[in-house]
Amino acid sequence: MKVLIADDDHSIRFILKIQLESWGYEVISCKDGSEALQHLTSDDPPRIAILDWVMDGYTGVEISQIIKERTPLIYVILFTSKNNEKDLVEAIERGAHCFQSKPVSPGVLKSHIEVAKRLITAEDKLKTQEREIRLQCYSALSDLAEVRHNNTGSHMNRISFYTKLMAEKLGMPEKQCADLALYSKFHDIGKVGIVDSVLLSEEAFDKNERDIMNTHAIIGFSILNSVPTLKIAARIARSHHEKWDGSGYPDKLKGEGIPIEARIVSIVDVYDALRSERTYKKGWSHKEAVRYMHENAGKDFDPKLVDIFLLYEEEFNEIFTHNSTENQ
Ligand SMILES: [Fe+2]
Ligand SMILES: [Fe+2]
Repeated sequence: MKVLIADDDHSIRFILKIQLESWGYEVISCKDGSEALQHLTSDDPPRIAILDWVMDGYTGVEISQIIKERTPLIYVILFTSKNNEKDLVEAIERGAHCFQSKPVSPGVLKSHIEVAKRLITAEDKLKTQEREIRLQCYSALSDLAEVRHNNTGSHMNRISFYTKLMAEKLGMPEKQCADLALYSKFHDIGKVGIVDSVLLSEEAFDKNERDIMNTHAIIGFSILNSVPTLKIAARIARSHHEKWDGSGYPDKLKGEGIPIEARIVSIVDVYDALRSERTYKKGWSHKEAVRYMHENAGKDFDPKLVDIFLLYEEEFNEIFTHNSTENQ
């Protein structure tokens, strides 16, 4: 675990660093408040900060206040020679977690750090549990989308696999690839709001039915957009039927005006629909579907994404072949 020390007194920093390193911590040593704040507001901040009250740049209390709302939590131990009640109460109210008076007592400091670790562990555990529960709810939500439109078989799972593959090939960070794999599963969630006579129709749609079906994009967006952690999923649901040349729906977005996540899902969704058998059509071969994707690059689809698709087409074919209940 990383611990940050900020004190303008070099000898205090030196002693603390040796002490903390002997306890197994990685130490970031800062000579003033500005340097400390830079580390504490970075993407990967230390979780424990030992801050001197009075320093150049920012005081320990000012820093505590700035990082008070940060998640994950940063536990602040404030070093001070002050001991009047008013100051101490104010420092806690502004965000510090505890005090250590100078000169530093190693035993007391160690106990403060133990408390900090307990709190940090508890917070991390809670966050992990919360994430797991959220993922379970999302998974139930995506099952709901599939269950009403059951002729699509394992469509949602395949979309998730293709989307992850495409995101990886585009060089997106691992977390973003995993997020897109999940969020892409909701692209057709709006179909829960489509009347059965259209949704379950076994014939090709007439104009009126097509218009009704197309509303699934906006319905899906409305369902997902109210959930702060599902904003990307909402964008996918809304824009996965937009076309590169602006002839799609519902907003007639064009080119890079279409969110990248939706451009990806658009390609893999069409590829999967072409390959799948319907009551009104046979499933296309991989070769036929690939030709269609190629012919529609720059019309329906982002040409750069189609290039990626074509480069790794065999991997998309494998996903379809190995995840098709229709084919088993
Ligand atoms: Fe759709
Ligand atoms: Fe779909």
